[in-house]
Amino acid sequence: MSTQHHRRQRIVAGLDLGTSKIAVLIGSIRENEEGVDVIGVGVAPSTGIRQGVVVNIEATTEAIRKARLEAELMAGVEIDNVWLGVSGNHIQSFDSKGMIAIKNKEVNQDDVARVLETAKSVNVPNEREVLHVLPREFIIDEQQGVADPIGMTGVRLEASVHIITGSQTALQNSIKCCEKSGLKINGLVLQSLASSLAVLSPDEKNLGVALVDIGGGHVELLCFDQGAASFTGMVPVGGNHFTHDVAVGLRTPQVSAEKIKQQYGCAMSEMVSDDESIEVEGVGGRKSRSVRRKYLCEVIEPRAEETLALIKNALEKEGLIDRLGSGVVITGGASQLDGLVELGEFVFDIPVRLGAPANTGGLKDAVRSPAFATSFGLLLYGLEQERARHSEKSDEMGIFKGISRRLKGLLGGAL
Ligand SMILES: Nc1ncnc2c1ncn2[C@@H]1O[C@H](COP(=O)(O)OP(=O)(O)OP(=O)(O)O)[C@@H](O)[C@H]1O
Ligand SMILES: [Mg+2]
Repeated sequence: MSTQHHRRQRIVAGLDLGTSKIAVLIGSIRENEEGVDVIGVGVAPSTGIRQGVVVNIEATTEAIRKARLEAELMAGVEIDNVWLGVSGNHIQSFDSKGMIAIKNKEVNQDDVARVLETAKSVNVPNEREVLHVLPREFIIDEQQGVADPIGMTGVRLEASVHIITGSQTALQNSIKCCEKSGLKINGLVLQSLASSLAVLSPDEKNLGVALVDIGGGHVELLCFDQGAASFTGMVPVGGNHFTHDVAVGLRTPQVSAEKIKQQYGCAMSEMVSDDESIEVEGVGGRKSRSVRRKYLCEVIEPRAEETLALIKNALEKEGLIDRLGSGVVITGGASQLDGLVELGEFVFDIPVRLGAPANTGGLKDAVRSPAFATSFGLLLYGLEQERARHSEKSDEMGIFKGISRRLKGLLGGAL
């Protein structure tokens, strides 16, 4: 259950386990379930996670406790369950198909649930957990490309799906940290899928788009083709590598390298004028010196180019670049580096935009940053599941509305 009643307020909460930060968001579900208003934000530095995977249970549990408390204090409500974002290079995804005979010649929700179940039952080794079964299309008899088959007539229903799985042991560690901090888990959600809910438009997904979430330790990729998820990938480079380069290149402590990167960094040195200079703190008590800003950007640029080239390679290897009609959307904390969109357009040769959570309501300003794409997306995922549960109830009462909502829920919010 993702809600609890508090002064008739319905609550949903998300927990993003990142390499840089642990974030807990608390949302209040709007009337008619039309959206979520963020009412609590808690962030704690993350030291126990590497590239999306837990490497230190104690440190991660403690950070979750801190972030949770902060979010609860801000929201004035307590939470006891969350949607948990998971990630890492153990994540795999593949296409699969399922087929069933339609019992009453007209497709109903049970048929859809059954066909998805058959698509899921193939090819998944025991040591892997299925996270999402995301439909790409339904086929009724010979008719292909059906997005919502309910109510259609036929004798045979096929589902073409994209299945996302994770290693049970890796997932178990994330679950353990969450539970040790006293939080129950409503469900596991792939972090990039959550981000996609927060920053992509339906049009972008229909035309084809690559979501590129650039975090502290790694880049997560999720592509959409004709409205449905079609590919997941990961590149083991993130914003922390940029900071490290700045620290080494400018001989300055990590903390000041981070500040300088955020304030003055740019991925394209030609966008910065020659005559600007910045003050750089020395290491080990050495006095600060003045450095040309252009030099800082020349340190950052090769790493930015390399990161984007790795992303491009990952997409090219699958022949995906040509299918991205609406280009690339970058998000995640490290996507905020100045000049990254421009350099991205140059490297990919297709349109690139920066994606940040929109329609956040409530504490808009606190979470309208690309760094909160995943955590806000977790709230939206939770909302989708709530809607699904409710329309299921209405259907049981014989009300024939909200069907496609229920379908969306069954499909893990993919449509
Ligand atoms: N204004 C900025 N300009 C450039 N980089 C930034 C800016 N703000 C934050 N970053 C970088 O964003 C990164 C953190 O991003 P984010 O919060 O999305 O990571 P995370 O979700 O914790 O990590 P991951 O997704 O890799 O597990 C850090 O490397 C930080 O340096
Ligand atoms: Mg992240």
